[in-house]
Amino acid sequence: MTVPKAELHNHLEGTAPPALIATLAARNGIALPTGLIQGDAFGWTGFAGFLQAYDQASTAIRRAEDYRDVTVAYLEACAADGAIYVELAASPDHAAANGLDYPGMVAGIAEGIAAARAATGIEARILITAVRHHGEERVATVARLAAAHPHPLVTGFGLAGDEAHIPASRMAKAFQIATGDAGLGATVHAGEAAGADSVADALTLPVTRIGHGVRAIENDAVLARLIERGTVLEVCPTSNVATGVYPTLDHHPLPRLLEAGVRVTLNSDDPPYFRTSIGHEYTLAASTWGLADKTLTAITRAAVEAAFVDEETRAQLLARIPQPTDG
Ligand code: ADE
Ligand code: ZN
Repeated sequence: MTVPKAELHNHLEGTAPPALIATLAARNGIALPTGLIQGDAFGWTGFAGFLQAYDQASTAIRRAEDYRDVTVAYLEACAADGAIYVELAASPDHAAANGLDYPGMVAGIAEGIAAARAATGIEARILITAVRHHGEERVATVARLAAAHPHPLVTGFGLAGDEAHIPASRMAKAFQIATGDAGLGATVHAGEAAGADSVADALTLPVTRIGHGVRAIENDAVLARLIERGTVLEVCPTSNVATGVYPTLDHHPLPRLLEAGVRVTLNSDDPPYFRTSIGHEYTLAASTWGLADKTLTAITRAAVEAAFVDEETRAQLLARIPQPTDG
């Protein structure tokens, strides 16, 4: 498919395929748990099992050069799929647990972005992601780290982790720091492992985007608020089936969200865990829901319009996407 693509939602540690995780583990002298890697796949069951496998695999990513290598591998794969822009969500908590400080993590990713950009022309930015089940204080500390170490490629702040048990609104202080002191764009996982109430709760935060957000479909009033605010959903269809949010893609609400007028984007989330890629998400959207190239192109444009980039970069990216009247 020749449609240019853009991805706003992934987890950098979760983009590294099993072979790369195995290479990094060997390079760092780390033993991975038995059963984590099963052939060319990660072994896990259920949402909690997925988060655990993700944490375990992340222990192989320990140094700035590991972050660089994971970044280059992912961005080059995205560029080969036709992506022109990718936001990489990186977790300082995972880096810290492996002995790497925030500046080291960011420096490694920035080096990877520069290398991939030089090799392929792809553009990328870094989102700093906090983990809600690490607690309010730690989430605020992650936001403070971003504020204390400004970097031109770090442009956003997000919140991942156990949505089912922890409402995002508890992290209001962290979002205030991230969007105020640090001047970052903000997004939050909601409406994935919990329903429309969780999306409504997330909308009390200063966010312009929601990670997933698909379960807003369960409540017309929440859907109306998304439309009214112009909040952009970072939709990850294959992820939602893999983690059991929906039994099959036929049950997925993406076509109904589009129909209702919600601004949606397509994303891979943690691609090797879910056996997907950004290119595969676009191909599936065409084959499952019959989305035409012009709709997919509009989805890419919506992603770039919602991207956490400066206006000059946004204009350059938009110039790479065909206009509805082109051709
Ligand atoms: N961390 C990594 N992937 C995630 C997801 N899909 N939801 C919540 N937290 C995550
Ligand atoms: Zn996610």
